[in-house]
Formats: sequence, C-alpha cells, structure tokens
Amino acid sequence: MRKPIIAGNWKMNNTAEEGVALVKALKPLVADAKCEVVVCVPAIDIPAVKKALHGSRIKLGAQNVHFAEKGAYTGEISAKMLLEYGVKYVIIGHSERRQYFGETDETVNKRTLAALAAGLTPIVCIGESLEERENGLTEKVLDRQLKEGFQGVGDFSKLVIAYEPIWAIGTGKTATAQQANDAIAYIRKRVKKLYPHSNAGRMRIQYGGSMNAGNAKELMAQPEIDGGLIGGASLKPQDFAAIVHFDK
Ligand code: 13P
Repeated sequence: MRKPIIAGNWKMNNTAEEGVALVKALKPLVADAKCEVVVCVPAIDIPAVKKALHGSRIKLGAQNVHFAEKGAYTGEISAKMLLEYGVKYVIIGHSERRQYFGETDETVNKRTLAALAAGLTPIVCIGESLEERENGLTEKVLDRQLKEGFQGVGDFSKLVIAYEPIWAIGTGKTATAQQANDAIAYIRKRVKKLYPHSNAGRMRIQYGGSMNAGNAKELMAQPEIDGGLIGGASLKPQDFAAIVHFDK
C-alpha cells in the first residue's frame, strides 16, 4: 500500500560536476528499482543534476526551502525556484539544520506548509538525541515535534516523515531494526491521534541514521519502515544502489 522510498541526502557534499558523475554512475545501477529513488542535492547542483537525471526515474530533491514566496531572505531558496528545475522532494528540519542553523519546530512547520502548498513533497525529519533517549524522553520529544511541526497539515500522505535518531546520524551506530520500527510505529500512532482524518495510514515514514548496504535489508523488512534517508552511503553509487535493492 505504501511504496518504499529510498532517498539520498548528500548534505554539503559534491560540486555540480561531482554530482553529475555520481548520478551518471548511479542511473544504470538503479534502473530496475522497484522503490521510489530520490537524490537530495545541494541547491547549486540542482540544474546540472537535473540534466544528468534525464531519462531516469530517479527523482530530484532539495535540502531546504523557505516559507515565503519571495523577498528579503538572503541566502534562502523558494519553492518556486525549486519547482522550476523539476524538484519534487525537499528535506525539511534535518537535525543538522536544527542544531547548527537555528531551525525550530515552528520554522519546520512554516516550511512544511509552504512546501505542501507549492506541490513539493516534504521529507520532514524528526528524532531524539542520545541524551533524550537515555533519559527515556524519546516519545516525549517525538510528540512535541509532531504537535508543533505539523500543525495545519491536512493530508499526511502528501509528505514523508524521516525518523532520524540524532545519535545514529553519521556515527555508524544504527538503531536496531526493532528500535527503529517501534519509534516509527509510535509516530504513526501519534499522527493518527493528533490529526484525525489525516490519512496517516498512507503516510510514508523513513528511517535515517547510518543506514547502509549491510543493514538496509533488515531495517526495510520491518513492517512500519517505509524507506530510508541515507547520508554517507548515498555518496557511493554502489552502496546507494545496494540499499535501493534491499528487496533482492
Ligand atoms: P548517515 O546515513 O550518514 O548517518 O546520515 C543520515 C542522515 O542524516 C540522512 O539525512
């Protein structure tokens, strides 16, 4: 019922030239993918990568979007600018943006609503820190993020949530398949409760945090996990392709 979605988050890696080389290598490797495949690239790489993706079903994603249509927001990028280049997905509220760039549940909410209104599919990231997990606060943190970050969202099938426990990002430390499945089941349950009539049963929820070629199969076999948001391993075509083929 929910089509699996494997998305690469390149973060601040790959110049346009390097990005083109990466997708050229990736295209034939994932040509027969059964899941949805997305690459979320640095904004400045978008035009070149868009061209390089021609003729493939890999979809293009960005890593942020501003909530205003246009105006005096130095350094920001609007939904309209992304749409002009065929961008379909946009990551919102990644923990690195929350940690280093002052992103809050409130700005996440504004960006999410703006992206949805423009017809982009947001990939909204939520998740707890190590300290929060160790103090038994995981559900409380997810609750707050779901309550404050998604106010006003009507149809949750139009967005993707990425559950990314911060302690598993870039650390090589993956949540166990059980931990990831439990947290994602909790997220779906809470969305159903907080937002009745939200189509939450059709909302896709990814796991992110050191997902790689070795552990993707086990994670993706969990009933609640609908995909992955992949950092490090998305920078290597062979590794990313192996994750895309989790079902083989
Ligand atoms: P890693 O896969 O490098 O742990 O990064 C995960 C992530 O932050 C994806 O958004």
